[in-house]
Amino acid sequence: MDASLRRLRRDRVDMLILHNRVAGCRPAGRRVGVGPVLGLDDVVGTDGVLDAFGELIGSGTVTACGLTAFGGEPAAVAEVLATGVPSVINAALSLAEPTAALAVTPPGGGDDHGQVIPLAASLGVGVMAIRVFGSGRLLQPAAGPLDAALQELAADLGQGDAYLGALSFVLGTPGVSTAIIGISESGHARDAADAVSAGLASLPGRDDLEERLRAASRLALSL
Ligand SMILES: NC(=O)c1ccc[n+]([C@@H]2O[C@H](COP(=O)([O-])OP(=O)(O)OC[C@H]3O[C@@H](n4cnc5c(N)ncnc54)[C@H](OP(=O)(O)O)[C@@H]3O)[C@@H](O)[C@H]2O)c1
Repeated sequence: MDASLRRLRRDRVDMLILHNRVAGCRPAGRRVGVGPVLGLDDVVGTDGVLDAFGELIGSGTVTACGLTAFGGEPAAVAEVLATGVPSVINAALSLAEPTAALAVTPPGGGDDHGQVIPLAASLGVGVMAIRVFGSGRLLQPAAGPLDAALQELAADLGQGDAYLGALSFVLGTPGVSTAIIGISESGHARDAADAVSAGLASLPGRDDLEERLRAASRLALSL
């Protein structure tokens, strides 16, 4: 931490997020380091990550700590949140990857993020959403029937504007505090700011959204 702060030329940071994913047990043979999945013992155990977070918060080096809440096991993330130490999570959320918020089967397969966002919200934990455009899948030419169906749903939510629909879905999800958008073109940052300033689309209720996502998955499977 000291070396990182020196490189940043700062004596403190507002937020420190654990980037490793968290599961019940660390996979056999995996070493601790940047990237690998950590076990609960590594995180909530004695001298684990949360003890280090506590020390850094106590010394004023860090204001808030959090973790990446996907890619491991939702039950393990829930145990970490229950300690009350993390005050923010990094959650993957988009119409292409909605399971951090909604009770649907992951469209096209993949991990189920276990509705971690409503859990975080119930605990007063902030949520930073990432992969808001499905890592670009919702905005680029559709690579198949599922992407086409999801883009159509995004356009429908955004009254003809898929970008607005995709962004509104994430920022309109209860519990989401902010959206972190991946961009390599500066104009794309302006697009996001302009969309938020102009006003996001209002969303249908949760049950309706879940049903429409299930319908998009069914439609894609039937083609
Ligand atoms: N924190 C993490 O755990 C984590 C993990 C993996 C990756 N990342 C980082 O996250 C970034 C990717 O973000 P993401 O996966 O969350 O993707 P995302 O925000 O869902 O989508 C990013 C894609 O959307 C495009 N896009 C954004 N605004 C647009 C607009 N107005 N019009 C057209 N296209 C637009 C971007 O194009 P342009 O690039 O052309 O702007 C990019 O291809 C990468 O920089 C990566 O390093 C973070």
